[in-house]
Amino acid sequence: MSSALPWPEVRSLAERFGDWPAELVVRWGLERYHPRIALACSFQDEDLVVLDLAWRIQPNIRVFFLDTGRLPEETYEVLDRIQRKYGIRIRSYFPQQKAVEDLVGEKGFYSFRTSVAERQRCCAIRKVEPLGRALTGLDGWITGLRRGQGPTRARVAKVDRDGNHGGILKLNPIADWTGDQVRDYLREHQIPRHPLHNRGYPSIGCAPCTRAVRPGEDLRAGRWWWEKPDTKECGLH
Ligand code: ADX
Ligand code: SF4
Repeated sequence: MSSALPWPEVRSLAERFGDWPAELVVRWGLERYHPRIALACSFQDEDLVVLDLAWRIQPNIRVFFLDTGRLPEETYEVLDRIQRKYGIRIRSYFPQQKAVEDLVGEKGFYSFRTSVAERQRCCAIRKVEPLGRALTGLDGWITGLRRGQGPTRARVAKVDRDGNHGGILKLNPIADWTGDQVRDYLREHQIPRHPLHNRGYPSIGCAPCTRAVRPGEDLRAGRWWWEKPDTKECGLH
């Protein structure tokens, strides 16, 4: 059973941690909650920074990956490299077989292009439901969310309460980092990057729903690029 933190406690932590460095936020979370806290890792730059910070504090850090069944091949290659580099086992969660069979049987393999509702239905089946299972029994999770990633993320707190998952703790330790800080960290610590980042993809999700961005475009402009910026969330956050 997950234990929800009382909201006043989370709020006072959020105030305390507001300006704390990422490493201290991760340390606090792991010292207090490991192994009932896990990192959600999609192998984008931000997640690899948080994974590295966490692994230095707790080499047995729990890490999970949501395999939607539509991810680019490169994501699996990075996963494999990272597992070997850190000597960790990353737990993958898949969508429910019947839900995917019903979806594609009824609507085909590109239903997400037909409307925001259909796109959200696909994300609900392939990402959000598996996330719920990944978080079952945990007291908290850790993400690589950053405020600079776009309008839907501008108010991300470093310490939050996840009302969608029983009020468990949600830590976003690099919420206030810039993209340059993230890349500097990866370079300094010689961490391998997802190859699509070097091919014009600042944000990487499922292959059919992600494209490279043009110079000057928003970081998440290539995610669900046919939609307006205010709908560009899949329900994980
Ligand atoms: S998304 O909601 O639009 O897909 P984004 O790709 O920006 O999110 O990633 C934000 C954070 O969500 C990541 O830092 C990571 O913590 C988590 N996340 C996103 N996709 C996955 C995934 N496939 N597996 C595990 N965690 C993920
Ligand atoms: Fe489906 Fe696209 Fe969402 Fe992936 S990002 S789960 S393919 S709608």
